Amino acid sequence: MSVNRPGAHSNDERLVDGEFLFTLGDFRTIAAMLHGDAGIALLESKATLVYSRLAKRLRILGIESFRDYCALVVSAEGADERVRMLAALTTNVTRFFREPHHFEHLKTKVLPPLLDAARRGERVRLWSAACSSGQEPYSMALTILSLMPDAANYDVKILASDIDPNMVASGAAGVYGAAALEPVPQSLRDRWFAAAPQGRGEAQWCVRPELKALVSFRELNLIGDWPMKGTFQAIFCRNVVIYFDDETQARVWSRFAPKLCAGGSLFIGHSERIAGPAATLFQPTGITSYSLRSGGVR
Ligand SMILES: C[S@@+](CC[C@H](N)C(=O)[O-])C[C@H]1O[C@@H](n2cnc3c(N)ncnc32)[C@H](O)[C@@H]1O
Repeated sequence: MSVNRPGAHSNDERLVDGEFLFTLGDFRTIAAMLHGDAGIALLESKATLVYSRLAKRLRILGIESFRDYCALVVSAEGADERVRMLAALTTNVTRFFREPHHFEHLKTKVLPPLLDAARRGERVRLWSAACSSGQEPYSMALTILSLMPDAANYDVKILASDIDPNMVASGAAGVYGAAALEPVPQSLRDRWFAAAPQGRGEAQWCVRPELKALVSFRELNLIGDWPMKGTFQAIFCRNVVIYFDDETQARVWSRFAPKLCAGGSLFIGHSERIAGPAATLFQPTGITSYSLRSGGVR
């Protein structure tokens, strides 16, 4: 399978050689839906990837061409399939304690005063704003538990949200293979995970109730409405806006400002930058970590 030469301009031109006809027009239809639904900018260089991820859906549905698949997903009857298409095209790569300096910063700088406040009865809220299968919010929760093992008895909560309902369900289930748990320090693994009943294959571990109690999973589209009323002391939004166009990125960064408490922290992905007018709202506090500037709410 290969992408035919760049520079084709006809919508009818075949874009990828393979089992199903996939034209530039089909690619553009899919790219426009992904942009409209999720803010994701799909480059033509990703055509082969789009083809291979969606060809599986065509086989399952018994559909013979991408033209017919596009007709389905743009129609009202295709609404469920459109969600599946979006899930197939998003990248869900994640791991426990990814970009470990953020968790060190959280543990040493951000959490100590917040957990003192929680012990005095105050509310502490953190948000993992594109949580994938849950490793990020559970890493935040494990960092809390490493400082405050009885955190579940206080008003301390993490909102974990993602656009992909499969990821939200997987995070809420909280079951991980031994390989996924490797980045978790042994002491935290022993204390906050329990061995799942052994089936065939890799050993599985479940998050214990005290860990699960700190995290609430919800479906949420970063380019849609954010129904939460309160503010957060820290937001992790990492390795997601990298897939958005510049304008959408800038809008998302600006929308975080009123969702942060005074001086609240924002952690972003290693290859992401806060640029444009939104940059004035935040001040750097470390590698890809920021705090809300005073008066920094628009
Ligand atoms: C690469 S993962 C990053 C996971 C985690 N934040 C990390 O850094 O390990 C990107 C996640 O963003 C989610 N996503 C993509 N577009 C989104 C949108 N518009 N709103 C919310 N989540 C989105 C995807 O479903 C995926 O789970």
